[in-house]
Parts: sequence; structure tokens; C-alpha cells
Amino acid sequence: MLQARRDYIIILFMNKLRIYRGADYDEMSRKAAAVIQAQLTVKPESVLGLATGSSPIGLYNVLAQAYGDGKIDFSRAKTVNLDEYQWLAPDDEQSYRYFMQKHLFSRVNINADNTYVPNGLAADPEDECKRYDYIIERLGGIDLQLIGIGHNGHIGFNEPSDEFPAKTHLVKLAEKTIEANKRFFKRAEDVPRAAFTMGIGTIMSAAAVLLIVSGNDKAAILKEAFFGPITPRVPASVLRLHRNVILAADDAALSLFPTG
Ligand code: F6R
Repeated sequence: MLQARRDYIIILFMNKLRIYRGADYDEMSRKAAAVIQAQLTVKPESVLGLATGSSPIGLYNVLAQAYGDGKIDFSRAKTVNLDEYQWLAPDDEQSYRYFMQKHLFSRVNINADNTYVPNGLAADPEDECKRYDYIIERLGGIDLQLIGIGHNGHIGFNEPSDEFPAKTHLVKLAEKTIEANKRFFKRAEDVPRAAFTMGIGTIMSAAAVLLIVSGNDKAAILKEAFFGPITPRVPASVLRLHRNVILAADDAALSLFPTG
């Protein structure tokens, strides 16, 4: 136990990993939202990398509330989303553009022209990937990248593979991901089989990364990512090479970390 605790402290120290622990999803969401709020206070023109899925919904609610209370200003912020399903139109209720409109953009004072999500309908996927990378480059890179983690360790839609892809690319979704995401669709067959995703290189180039994780079902993969080998088989493990990662997680997600 003592050995595990010592390794834990050494690993966290080397990673410069900061853990914001919440008792539950709501507290995790509030702590994570405070990081974004601080980022926009320090640098109102920040480029925020954003994520979809169930993990950030609570956080977006807190941000919308903070905006309603006059405590946060998005007027100069720019956002780039991690990913988008291929062949879903922006007004399709399952598209990530639609998700962002619904959960955040329509609820705060962000300029729609400053929000970027890959175009799932792009006729030429290769061109779309280049265009998206160019947008991020032109914005000057990402100040704070928000990410969740998939049950197989994916970040963005960078699925387990033999290498860490650097740039935006079109990816075939893993069966595990299709399975996990079918809860958002009427039928499993409706889940798109491919998606555009920012590359690991771009995520790792962000000045800071905010990883949010909630629930018992994420505990094993979270532990694997931070205490197993750094390997593209567990894409999130690469975060250990990033110098500025904040992990906002709840007790359930942290239940297998050595400090429990
Ligand atoms: C979403 C994304 C995904 C999710 C991950 C976790 O934009 O890129 O990597 O963050 O699949 O999803 P949830 O939060 O639904 O468990």
C-alpha cells in the first residue's frame, strides 16, 4: 500500500497532474467549469477546445448559469470542437454541432462565427481534415482543451490503434464506441460508423488539457490511462506526456486510483 502510494505521488508529480475531485457528477462539473471560467477571466480571447458526450453536459449547464448570472463572458472566446460524426448534418439532432448549440452556444454570448466543429458532410474528407487543422493553426492553437475519455481509452475519436495520429483525420469507430454511443440514437444501426476527429498531436499541443471523468464505469480505464503503459492502445495514456493536465473527476471514477 505504502509502495503504491509512493509510486502514485511520484507519477503525479512527474506528470504535473492536478486532480480536482468532486463527490459526484455535479461537484465534478462545478470544479471543471471553474477552470474554464478562470481561463476566460485570465484570457478572454481564449481558444477553447470543446467536447460532447454525457461528461460535459453538467459543466455546460454550470457555464450557462454563470453567464446568466453575469459571471462569465464568451464574447471574445473562440471554440474548436474535438470531433463530428461523418454524414450527419449540423441540424441533425445527433450531430455534435447540434449538441453544442443546444448545450452551450445558444445559452451564452459566444459569436457563432467563432465556433468551429468539423463539417460531417464534407464531400472530400481529406480536404476537410486539412481545413480543420488550418483553422486551429490560424487561431494560434488551443489554450485549454476539454476532453472526456471513452471506455476503451479513446480521446476525441482517437480509437486504440498502433500509433498516435497527429492531425485531424477520419476514423472508423470502434465497436465499443458504437455500442457506448447507441444510447443517443433510436437504433444501433443509426450510429454513424465514422467520424472526423482532431488528432492526438493537436490535443497534446494545447497549452492545458482538462479531462473530465465521472462514474464507476470509467474507473478501470482511468486507472489504466494513468498507471498502465503509455501506448496508443490506450490513447488517453499519452496525456502523461503533457505538462499541464487537470483531471476533474468524481469519487466513483477515482475509486481505483491508489489513493482510492
Ligand atoms: C466527445 C468525444 C469523446 C467522449 C468520450 C466520453 O466529443 O470526443 O471522446 O469524450 O466518448 O463520452 P461520454 O462523456 O459520453 O462518456
